[in-house]
Amino acid sequence: MVRKVLNYSKQSISNKDIESVIKVLKSDFLTTGPMIERFEKNFSKYTSSKYSIACSSGTSALLLSYLSLGCDKESVVFVPNITFTATASAAKFLGAKIILVDCDEESGLILPKSLENKIKILSSSKKKMFCAVVHLNGQCCDLEEISKICRKYKVHLIEDACHALGAKFIDSKKRRYIVGDCNFSDFSTFSFHPVKNITMGEGGMINTNSKELFEKAILLRNHGILKRLEEKNQSDSKWKDPWYYEVQDVSLNFRTSDINCALGLSQLKRIDTLKKKREKIYQRYIEAFDSNKPYIEVVKKNDNSIPAWHLCVLRIDFNYFKITRNELMNLLKNMKINTQVHYIPLSRQPVYSEKTKNSDLKFSLKYYEKILSIPMYPDMSIRDVDYVIRSLKKIFKLVR
Ligand SMILES: Cc1ncc(COP(=O)(O)O)c(C=O)c1O
Repeated sequence: MVRKVLNYSKQSISNKDIESVIKVLKSDFLTTGPMIERFEKNFSKYTSSKYSIACSSGTSALLLSYLSLGCDKESVVFVPNITFTATASAAKFLGAKIILVDCDEESGLILPKSLENKIKILSSSKKKMFCAVVHLNGQCCDLEEISKICRKYKVHLIEDACHALGAKFIDSKKRRYIVGDCNFSDFSTFSFHPVKNITMGEGGMINTNSKELFEKAILLRNHGILKRLEEKNQSDSKWKDPWYYEVQDVSLNFRTSDINCALGLSQLKRIDTLKKKREKIYQRYIEAFDSNKPYIEVVKKNDNSIPAWHLCVLRIDFNYFKITRNELMNLLKNMKINTQVHYIPLSRQPVYSEKTKNSDLKFSLKYYEKILSIPMYPDMSIRDVDYVIRSLKKIFKLVR
């Protein structure tokens, strides 16, 4: 039997997903049609937010959020050291200064104490302040504590929820909040890249509960253009001209298409099933490596979330096993198991390394030293999961 390659993540496409896309392809609208609003409405309902705005990627969702909140070269943005570059680069692109914040050694989630220490240093400056937190791997950071800090120092809060569609946050009173409800933040942003919890091929979503921010983001999604149709009640006579529109802000095209939204909507209907399948695999990995702690350990669930696992991250003591991560990844690759590292800390990237003091970020660097994302996706069979477990144990000589 020829063994298929197992990647760290992969989309799950059903016949219904395919049919939904074909239906749009046969319809009158490939873009700016009815599917976009339908997806947005359903997404708002699922995530309990007032407004959802579909856009071209998770990166555009972040960029539009920062832009709508007025982030510019007079701004500082606090970002966890462990995240994909887009969390920081969308703000740096607008000229903002990025301040990296330390993350927990075991979960990789932003540390509220480190955030507060860094905000305090800048609190007397006249800078506009923003913080983007990341619900890494599909579990929530401490939103309650973080939003308390942000309110105290007047910092706008964005949740980069690109990993965490379907996850829930639990507060100190045991109340549950679905990720995306923006109960603690100005915006939540999502990505629907094929490795994410649901996919649109490429695409993103912005959630907010503020009408004003919603209107701003909608405007910025489409070149800053306000169309006549959207402003029927304008008393000014020029709005009576049927062709009239105004470019009210400088922006670009961050729209998505009806084709992508049809896939997104169809996938959204399956989110709970997809989540359960991932959870089952995650639990199997936890059980398999339970007796090998602390040398190998799957990233643990924290107390304040019900995760929607997006990645399965192993924490490995490479020194104990006398193997490097590079050697391990190559051995696994030869066994047709493709793994990945999420992520190289931003402080190790040339564009963010400037003037970064590593001692401030020591826990995130420790997190990075141990991590490896192993295959986990809804259509992965239990036989394949067991093959990954067996292969890892063989390499580590935990089985003969
Ligand atoms: C945490 C995080 N933020 C933002 C993004 C950007 O999303 P997209 O690839 O859809 O632009 C990603 C995607 O990998 C991500 O993982």
